[in-house]
Amino acid sequence: MTSTLSVDIGGTHVKASVLDARGRMVHDRVKVDTPDDLTPRALVRIIAALAAQLPRFDRVSAGFPGVVRRGVVRTAPNLGTKKFAGFDLARALERKLGAPTHVINDADMQGYGAIRGRGVEMVITLGTGFGSAIFEDGRLGPHLELAHHIFHGKATYEDELGDAAMKRGKRSWNRELARAIESLRTLTTFDHLFIGGGNSRNVKLALPDDVTLVDNTAGILGGVRLWDFER
Ligand code: BGC
Repeated sequence: MTSTLSVDIGGTHVKASVLDARGRMVHDRVKVDTPDDLTPRALVRIIAALAAQLPRFDRVSAGFPGVVRRGVVRTAPNLGTKKFAGFDLARALERKLGAPTHVINDADMQGYGAIRGRGVEMVITLGTGFGSAIFEDGRLGPHLELAHHIFHGKATYEDELGDAAMKRGKRSWNRELARAIESLRTLTTFDHLFIGGGNSRNVKLALPDDVTLVDNTAGILGGVRLWDFER
């Protein structure tokens, strides 16, 4: 049975586990704090150290907090785009871990773990940054970088819903989230919206029936389904 090392790279933690062929974790997640001065090489070393604490695996999936094309990082707003842009993380992990590797955006990977596979499903992640992904009938659409898109006035989605905004005040952050849900509904006419990420625990809104909170482990659970689609 194929097993997958699945890694969720975040601005606060790097977490990993190994999943069986059905996408279930075969070991508790292991994690380390993301160092402030993280470099691409240090990231590869950190992932190798996490992998060494886990059972064997045949392949690797990693969700990265920025834009990634064919395994190569384009942006890394919360880790440092200057340091990471152009870094072929998929290739570096393949070499270090000796297993075929897919690296995609973290919200896209989270989405693979959260969605049901029917209709238009949108996923947002509330963590250090603001992640977004959209799926149609289980297929990932083009990557959405709503984080740095204008939400209202001069403020982006990440300005109003990222971790810094949450720390400024949970009530106003929740109000902004309610507003964002309606704005995203108008934008996508989603059939369902999933809200994940570490800060989803701070959501205190009465959510509409078509909006669900997902467990933060979804960031890792997407690591199996993505292999059915990514080339
Ligand atoms: C990045 C996204 C990422 C999100 C969550 C944003 O700052 O631009 O690509 O998905 O943070 O990590």
